[in-house]
Amino acid sequence: MKILTVCLGNICRSPLAELIMKESLGSDFHVESRGTIGIHQGRSADRRSVAIAQDNGLDLQPHRAKMLTTEDLENFDLILCMDHSNLADVHSLCASEQMRRKVRLISPDNLPVPDPYYGNREDFERVWQLLQDAAKHWSHTLNNM
Ligand code: 4NP
Repeated sequence: MKILTVCLGNICRSPLAELIMKESLGSDFHVESRGTIGIHQGRSADRRSVAIAQDNGLDLQPHRAKMLTTEDLENFDLILCMDHSNLADVHSLCASEQMRRKVRLISPDNLPVPDPYYGNREDFERVWQLLQDAAKHWSHTLNNM
């Protein structure tokens, strides 16, 4: 199963989500990440995301930002967005109802993972915690399907 995590810039939240989901789901699942905008394409992850990953034993240094394409929407089975704005942006690229159904918020209970770009360390810690909770939820859901 191929899973894509999506945020706005693909430098703060979705690269962390990619790492955490990979760790939580194991090798039966292929996980990548994208951003809905292209202005950071090719760049490393935000240093604050790199730092929080490192503090928790994960290496985000190899990440390079990529922009979401319509091909990605065909190729991935489950597309997990961080917030409602990402969800609306991805939905607007979907060509069919079948494609729309692959797109979800990453957190259960309709809870967004808020954009931490203009925030501080606490905001990144909140992102980390929300993504840990979301990964547990998906690990449970997908491994019991
Ligand atoms: P991300 O965070 O969507 O979690 O990667 C952001 C990164 C860049 C910008 C906004 C949010 N930006 O405005 O450039």
